[in-house]
Amino acid sequence: MLSKDQISQYDYQQTAEWLLSQTQHRPKVAIICGSGLGLLADGLESQKSFKYEDIPGFPKSTVQGHAGRLVFGELQGKACVCMQGRFHMYEGYPLSKVTFPIRVFKLIGVETLIVTNAAGSLADSYHCGDIMIIKDHINFPGFAGLNPLNGPNDDKFGPRFPPMSGAYDKGLRHLARDICKSMAISEFVQEGVYCMVGGPNFESIAEARFLHKLGVDAVGMSTAPEVVVASHCGMRVFGLSLITNKVVKSYEDTEMVNHDAVLEVSKMRSETLQSLVTELVGRMDIN
Ligand code: 6GU
Repeated sequence: MLSKDQISQYDYQQTAEWLLSQTQHRPKVAIICGSGLGLLADGLESQKSFKYEDIPGFPKSTVQGHAGRLVFGELQGKACVCMQGRFHMYEGYPLSKVTFPIRVFKLIGVETLIVTNAAGSLADSYHCGDIMIIKDHINFPGFAGLNPLNGPNDDKFGPRFPPMSGAYDKGLRHLARDICKSMAISEFVQEGVYCMVGGPNFESIAEARFLHKLGVDAVGMSTAPEVVVASHCGMRVFGLSLITNKVVKSYEDTEMVNHDAVLEVSKMRSETLQSLVTELVGRMDIN
C-alpha cells in the first residue's frame, strides 16, 4: 500500500544535507526531550539551534511545553543533537512525520538515540516524580495498524521485518543504573515497561485497569514510533520516562490528571534527569 504520507529517501537526505551545511557539529547521539524536559537541550555547550519551522522538510510542533527546536551542541565534550519538543500522533501528524527526524539523524551519523517522556504510572510501587528506565515497550497503536514502518520498506534503512526484542540497549540500561547508584538517586529510579497509547485523552479507569493487567508500568502518548524507526535503522536506544502522575485505577478515587500537573512534576525533576543523561552520554562508548 502506497500512502500519500510516504516520505522518500530523497526527503530525508535533503534535510540531512541542509543541516550538515548549517553546522559543524557531527553528533553521534540524538536526544528527544519530552514534555517539560526541554532543560536537557539548554544544557548543551557550544549550541547551534534551529527552529523546526526553519528546517526544510520538518513538521511544526504545536503542544504546550514544547519549544520546537533542534539544538546541536556538546555534552561532556561529546557532540549531541537534541529535539526540544517532539511530534505526536495526537497532533494529527502521520507517523512518517512523527519519526521523520529519526531517519534524518541516521543520515547525519547518529548511532545512539536517547528518548525521554512524561508518563503516568500503573505499577503500584511507583511514585510521582520517579524516573523509569524503559526496559521494553508496548506499541498499542501498532496493534491497530498504525506503524511508522507501514508501506514499502526502504532497505537502505533496515529490514522489512525488524526484530524489537533488543530495542532498549541492555548495556546502556546497566550503565544508567550504575550512574543512578553513584548519584544516590536509585531510591526513585525504576526499570519497567512503557506503553504508548494514542491520546489525547488520558485513560478511562477501565482502560487503566486493562493496561495494568497487561503488565504495563507506565503509559504515555509518544516514544514507541521513534524507537521502532530508530531500532529498524540499527540505532542503539536508551529511554527514560518521568512519572508525572499515578494513573487513576479505582472508581473510589476522585483525583484527576491534567497536563499542567504533568508539566509541574517534570520541572521538579528536570535537573536530576538532565544530570543523569549528561553523565550517561559522558560515560557511554562512542566510536
Ligand atoms: Cl496518565 N496517560 C497518558 N496516556 N499519558 C500521560 C499520562 C497518563 N501522564 C503523563 N502522560
